Amino acid sequence: MNTTVSRRLAILGSTGSIGHSTLDVVRTHRDRLSVVGLAAHNNWRKLYKQIEEFRPAVVALFSEEAAARLREALGPTSTVAVRTGMAGVLEVAALAEADTVVSALVGAVGLRPVLEAIAARKKICLANKEPLVVAGSLVTGAAREAGVPILPVDSEHSAIFQCLDDGEARFVDRLIITASGGPFRCHAPDRLSGVTPDEALRHPNWEMGGKITIDSATLMNKGLEVIEAHWLFGVPFDRISVVVHPQSIIHSMIEFRDGSILAQMGSPDMRLPIQYALSHPERWAASGKRTDLLALGSLTFEAPRREAFPCLELAYEAGRRGGNLPCLMNAANEVAVEAFLNRRLGFTAIPRVIRETMDSLPFTSTVTLAGLLEDDARARRRAAEIIAAPGAAAGGPVPETSTRAGPEGGQAA
Ligand SMILES: NC(=O)c1ccc[n+]([C@@H]2O[C@H](COP(=O)([O-])OP(=O)(O)OC[C@H]3O[C@@H](n4cnc5c(N)ncnc54)[C@H](OP(=O)(O)O)[C@@H]3O)[C@@H](O)[C@H]2O)c1
Repeated sequence: MNTTVSRRLAILGSTGSIGHSTLDVVRTHRDRLSVVGLAAHNNWRKLYKQIEEFRPAVVALFSEEAAARLREALGPTSTVAVRTGMAGVLEVAALAEADTVVSALVGAVGLRPVLEAIAARKKICLANKEPLVVAGSLVTGAAREAGVPILPVDSEHSAIFQCLDDGEARFVDRLIITASGGPFRCHAPDRLSGVTPDEALRHPNWEMGGKITIDSATLMNKGLEVIEAHWLFGVPFDRISVVVHPQSIIHSMIEFRDGSILAQMGSPDMRLPIQYALSHPERWAASGKRTDLLALGSLTFEAPRREAFPCLELAYEAGRRGGNLPCLMNAANEVAVEAFLNRRLGFTAIPRVIRETMDSLPFTSTVTLAGLLEDDARARRRAAEIIAAPGAAAGGPVPETSTRAGPEGGQAA
């Protein structure tokens, strides 16, 4: 097929790991891809280099101080518009010059920008999974109403999307999401309480930003992905399984009614799913490493260790109960992960902080954007209080049942 697709991109989170890989894909396909807008938080030096190379019309830095430094570095003759704050990020998300928005911010802060991009009818290439976790019904509802496609960038969801591309979705029985198991896959439970941020940041297969790398170590990332898959593909939670596959070559699978399973495979390189989201419905040549099956020798599968990594079950529970619970869980997780990275919280205390936050705030079954933004702020404050309480930093067992966990509490596989 001749190549027809060409895209003008706004990249939210351009200085992060996904942003970096996206720009690498742009370098490989300069004839098809151009960059018209970039947004980041603080890293003005990296953004400055990206401006020099890709010449976007508008950029935004959430931090006013960093934006001032960037303007100074660009000088008075620069034609690049530098915006700041959430208003600046929203402006880049809705940029008239862009037809496609790559959403690669980290955390729930990406919710308003992705809704803004949908309202402006941009094609969405979604890496930033937290907005779907927090407000899946609002995000997918808005996209449906605006007629805007959400193309998954997360490798697992890209895999499922690629397997489903033959239009046989109605015959699917189960989604099987693969997990690497993270750096502590084989750690005995008593070793987990003492693990350090440096150890947790050493992911065996993927190079990613700090937050998602810690989420991979706790298995919360897999839990977030289960909720993300539920919203992207409309599959109920009891038909979404998690299987540990330490080689990270099969990125996920779908099982049909008749027992047939389709898997998507490839090297663990985010440029592949990013490029697929950008090139869809075409496939472009890629410069990344090819998968050498003979060198791999074997692919293996295990059940996730649910007791050692309780975050996975917390996410199933939050996803099944729905309402504002995924929002509370996600906010508490973001605060707990940051505290762990700053050495204020032990690794095994992360799920306990999340459990306590989920249990101590009111549950609401129907959600609005304003309500969720309030819940997000409330849960962050509550999680911070729990972390600050005397003795909270050490890990302890996560209470088995909560006052609000119904009989439908989640099962992982
Ligand atoms: N990395 C991966 O391989 C991977 C794979 C699948 C899915 N994902 C998902 O993709 C998202 C991004 O992950 P990542 O690993 O690329 O994260 P990352 O390396 O930490 O990058 C995050 C990006 O978001 C920007 N940012 C953060 N807060 C912001 C704010 N308030 N306003 C504007 N920009 C802000 C950061 O800017 P500064 O640099 O200035 O702080 C940075 O550019 C996450 O949701 C993650 O779960 C990542």
